[in-house]
Amino acid sequence: RVLRPILALDDFEEAARRRLPRPLFGYIAGAVETNASRTDNRTVFGEWAFKPRYLIDVSRRSMKTSLFGEEFGAPFGIAPMGISAMMAYRGDLVLARAAREAGIPMIMSGSSLIRMEEVAKEYPRAWFQAYLPGEPARIEALVDRVQKAGFGTLLLTVDTTTLGNRENNVRTGFSTPLKPNLRLAWDGITHPHWLLNTLLRTLRHHGMPHFENSYATRGAPIIAKHVERDFGARDHLNWTHLAQIRRQWKGRLVVKGILTGEDARRAAEEGADGVIVSNHGGRQLDGAISAFRALPEVKAAAGGMTVMMDGGVRRGTDVLKALAMGADFVFVGRPFLYAAAVGGEAGVRHGIELLSSEVNRNVAFLGLQSPGEIGVENLIRVAGVPT
Ligand code: FNR
Repeated sequence: RVLRPILALDDFEEAARRRLPRPLFGYIAGAVETNASRTDNRTVFGEWAFKPRYLIDVSRRSMKTSLFGEEFGAPFGIAPMGISAMMAYRGDLVLARAAREAGIPMIMSGSSLIRMEEVAKEYPRAWFQAYLPGEPARIEALVDRVQKAGFGTLLLTVDTTTLGNRENNVRTGFSTPLKPNLRLAWDGITHPHWLLNTLLRTLRHHGMPHFENSYATRGAPIIAKHVERDFGARDHLNWTHLAQIRRQWKGRLVVKGILTGEDARRAAEEGADGVIVSNHGGRQLDGAISAFRALPEVKAAAGGMTVMMDGGVRRGTDVLKALAMGADFVFVGRPFLYAAAVGGEAGVRHGIELLSSEVNRNVAFLGLQSPGEIGVENLIRVAGVPT
């Protein structure tokens, strides 16, 4: 019933705003400082228009898209998002199951509250995104664990050199761990669906949520009286850490957060199989170039690597514009987490279907047989500086 009025991915945002306590909604929706990158991630798509092609038989078109030699049901997947299990009961499993049903990739976050082994078991085609500890021995233990869990693709997110300046989280009272106080209690009481179906159900069946995968060992609890953080600084990480992982990791290695041709070239030299061009949903460096704008440069430098992107993709038209600009695949973040909060697995499935059917319809208008056929010839620049 809650899903009936949801006709497009953006509709999940308002529904989630009503459903979630303010600090949690704010954590998902938020960006940093002036929100410049988050805003540009969306508006940039408006700078390009399509050139449709008609009277072409597209009755046998297919949304199937191959990525790393594997076939997926659509040209998009679910981006990694931390603490999803605070937004929906067993959130990572909710996202994994919906992705499995639709046959699309789902990336589980390293800052998740569910053990990676459970997610891999639920959906063996899921990918794992790692945040690295500093010491080589702990990196080795983490990579070993991801390998043993059965993941085929490991992502290293590189744009978290330091924590983004999330003023919004300070304003709404969000922190990890959450600090129990009257305001938080009131927020819980006034969002009874979340309180009963997510928080209390989690505490009852699984106890206090912890960061289960940040490092090889268990991380800090998500709710605690004393704020004790085990994240440490990541500002010493460098390319040798990627090289170390490459020597150990047998599966596919993807670097997430690349925005320049130089870094893409370096990732390729170190043996990465792919990159996700991303500014982290505008949540790290405010004013960082949007992935869509960075695509041509990264693509030109990528050599044989697979180039994927995320940030601001909300419509089938956005998916296709990104593919036209050189992406092999795209990822979508916030809307799927809102969908999990609003409607659980059915919510996420609904979201995937909405986006899929938009892509399908637009592929027809463009006179194509599959999304992968699109190219720059299908686009024309309509605003901004001419290229
Ligand atoms: C993220 N993102 C993210 N990225 C990552 O590599 N590891 C992580 O743990 C997280 N956590 C996270 C939490 C939440 C709530 C959000 C919204 C985002 C970034 C994410 O993978 C992706 O890059 C952006 O969300 C894509 O932008 P859109 O689709 O949200 O606009």
